[in-house]
Amino acid sequence: MIPVTGAADAAPVSLAGKTCLVTGANGGIGAATAAHFLALGARVLATDLGPDFVGAPDTPASVREAIDYRPFDLLDPKGLEACCAWISEQCPQVVFNNAALFDMGSVLDADLGQYERLFGLNVRALYAVMQAASRALVAASQPGSIINMASQAGHRGEALVAHYCASKAAVISYTQSAALALAPHKIRVNALSPGVIDTPMWEQVDALFARFEGKAPGQKKREVGEAVPLGYMGRPHDVARVAVFLASEQSAYITAQTLSVDGGNVLR
Ligand SMILES: NC(=O)c1ccc[n+]([C@@H]2O[C@H](COP(=O)([O-])OP(=O)(O)OC[C@H]3O[C@@H](n4cnc5c(N)ncnc54)[C@H](O)[C@@H]3O)[C@@H](O)[C@H]2O)c1
Repeated sequence: MIPVTGAADAAPVSLAGKTCLVTGANGGIGAATAAHFLALGARVLATDLGPDFVGAPDTPASVREAIDYRPFDLLDPKGLEACCAWISEQCPQVVFNNAALFDMGSVLDADLGQYERLFGLNVRALYAVMQAASRALVAASQPGSIINMASQAGHRGEALVAHYCASKAAVISYTQSAALALAPHKIRVNALSPGVIDTPMWEQVDALFARFEGKAPGQKKREVGEAVPLGYMGRPHDVARVAVFLASEQSAYITAQTLSVDGGNVLR
C-alpha cells in the first residue's frame, strides 16, 4: 500500500474546539448553517434582528438553547459597533458572514435610499464583521476561516437588480483582497455564491418579480427552480454543507475563492 501524505486528515469533518459565528442566523441559510456547525461540535455564536434565535421551523429546542445568540441590527451604526465589540471579545475562528437584504430596481428607478440599505448591510456590515474578526484572530495569533455570502447575482448584472448585484460583486472583490492580506496570518477567506435557494428571502423576491414583471404569485419561484440544470431550487442545507466544508480543515488549501452552490446555474 502506498502511504498517502495527509490521508489521516481525511477523517470525518469535525468543528470541535472551534467557535463559529453566524450572522443572519434567523434566515433560511443562516439557521441551517448554525445547526450544522453545532452538530459538528462547534460552539456557535449567532446574531440577527429578533430578540431570540428562532432557527428553522424544525429546529429542536436543544439546538436553540445551545446557541449563544445576541440581537444586533447591523444597519444601525451602534448595533454594528456593538456586534464588532462582541466579535473582538469572542474571537471566533469561523465567521459565516451571511446577513443581507434583497431589493429590486433598474438604474432608472433604484434610488440611493435602496443603495444605502443594500450596501449598508450586504457590504459595509459584512466588511466590518470581517475586519473585527480578522483583527481579533491576528492579535491572538490564531488561524481562521471567514466565509462571506456572495450570490450568483454577483457574477453578472441584471437589468432589474442593480444594487443587489453590485453589492454581491463587491463581496467577491473584498473576499479576494482580504484573503491575500490575511494569508500570511493563516486566515482563509472565501465566498459562497448560491443560486436560487428556497428560503424566506424568496417570498420577497417572488413578490417583487410579480410586481416588476407582471408575473402571477409563485410563478417566478417556479420558473427559476425549473431552470436550474439539476432541476430544483436548492435547500438551505445544500449551502450549509458547503459552509461546513469551508469552515473545516478539509478546505485547508482553499482561499480567495468564490464557490458556486447553484445546481449548475452559472458557468464561469
Ligand atoms: N435564498 C437565495 O436564493 C439566495 C441566493 C443567493 C444568495 N443568497 C444570500 O444568502 C444569504 C442568506 O439568505 P437567505 O436566503 O437565508 O435570506 P433570509 O432573508 O432568509 O435571511 C437573511 C437574514 O438577514 C437578516 N437581516 C436583515 N436585515 C438585517 C439587519 N439590519 N441586521 C442584522 N440582520 C439582518 C434577516 O433578519 C434574515 O434573518 C444572504 O446573504 C443572501 O443574499 C441567498
